[in-house]
Amino acid sequence: MSKFPKDFLWGAASSAFQIEGAWDEDGKGMTVADFNSFKKSDKQADSKVAADFYHRYKEDIQLMKELGLKAYRFSISWARIYPNGEGEINQKGIDFYNDVINTLLENNIQPLVTLYHFDLPYQLVEKYNGWESRKTIDAFAKYAETCFKEFGDRVKIWQVHNEQNLMIRVDERMNINVDDSYTADKIRAQMDYHMFLAHAHAVNLCHELIKDAKIGPAVSSTCTYPLTNKPEDVWAAKMNDWFKTNYCLEMHTNGEYPGYYLRYLKERNIVPIMEESDTTILKNAKIDYIALNYYRTLCASYLPVDEQNPIGSRVFRGNVVDFDQYGYFRDEKNENLTASEYGAQIDPMGLRIVLNDYYRRYHLPLIITENGLGTADVLTDDEKVHDQYRIDYIQAHIKACADAIEDGVELFGYCPWSVVDLLSSHQGYKKRYGFIYIDRTDFDLKQMKRIKKDSYYWYKNIISNNGESI
Ligand code: BG6
Repeated sequence: MSKFPKDFLWGAASSAFQIEGAWDEDGKGMTVADFNSFKKSDKQADSKVAADFYHRYKEDIQLMKELGLKAYRFSISWARIYPNGEGEINQKGIDFYNDVINTLLENNIQPLVTLYHFDLPYQLVEKYNGWESRKTIDAFAKYAETCFKEFGDRVKIWQVHNEQNLMIRVDERMNINVDDSYTADKIRAQMDYHMFLAHAHAVNLCHELIKDAKIGPAVSSTCTYPLTNKPEDVWAAKMNDWFKTNYCLEMHTNGEYPGYYLRYLKERNIVPIMEESDTTILKNAKIDYIALNYYRTLCASYLPVDEQNPIGSRVFRGNVVDFDQYGYFRDEKNENLTASEYGAQIDPMGLRIVLNDYYRRYHLPLIITENGLGTADVLTDDEKVHDQYRIDYIQAHIKACADAIEDGVELFGYCPWSVVDLLSSHQGYKKRYGFIYIDRTDFDLKQMKRIKKDSYYWYKNIISNNGESI
């Protein structure tokens, strides 16, 4: 008997700038993601062509159908709908997503849509320094409203921001360009708060405009183990999770920052400017579910303050997303786990822990909107990709989902990253995640032929028996 409910959403995921290409076609504006990828164009692939989904979506959706997908999680590019982030609507952008959504539905694949996946329209950066200004909140609310009105008759499951909790730590995505870390933290705190407000606006608008829709955040989940059983390390591990993920979920579920987070903002003297009327907006925004992305687990020890580093100050050591925080935690290697070639500590058990933890803590249904193994694949001469390592990874994580469901967790879908090989957010086309190989390299587009990997056939079988053979 399958552990998975009969209407379980077996899916796959992607994001606009990583899959679409056509970065300036049919009126689309440049985004922060484009801008940053162009800075590295001499070293790796940029977002100009990506997987060329913009021109090949019909072929790709046929492959999704053959795979048996019940759901496809993708993002809308804000700058395709509003090239300047605000102002005039671009009808061609609306037409494109209408076509994608209709083609999915014709093939019995449910569209799961994310509004904002790392790709802020660049014009908003130039005009307002992006999320530093409340003007960007207004622009986002208008964009969200447009999407709900245009697509809400067919799209019933929405995510607002992809990984706000991770995005906010990556300075180039936020356009934080200051040298001193105190000012950077202050700007970051203000931007983060504005993104929460924008999130709340979108949740409220969605509930008002689409009565039968569900909306929630997509967080980058963390599960941190203490380096030792010293009480300080156990506390540090908790703090690592709370500061990297849980404060975000608590804001989304309670409409206010939790005490430990406010304490940090005060200690660091970076409490953001808040307006009185914000409280109602934040408190009214009741999310319907939590989407989580899961790749790895973390490990932490206690990091005391010292003369150079005051309480709450942050430092990134050789990694753009996992900061250490003085007086709180330090990121450590977990000797009990093996890491991928890109340093992700692989840990299916961690997924079971996270699913149980979030469900018991927030009492909301959960869906996994990303999970996968990024690595180089080899195309054989007879055009095969034998990616047993990816099958092993995904199989172990689906087993963890089955265990969590048996533990009583309400998990309604699983969307691995990704359906086709797409542009990695940091490593171009060297690092691949797809069930379908795209025959291109960083600098040679070739024919961009779609080739099914071994994992494609394996996942197709899992879907067809609703996970029973796992
Ligand atoms: C997630 C992002 O954090 O990780 C995706 O939502 C990203 O956009 C994925 O692609 C994998 O990370 P990377 O850097 O290997 O592409």
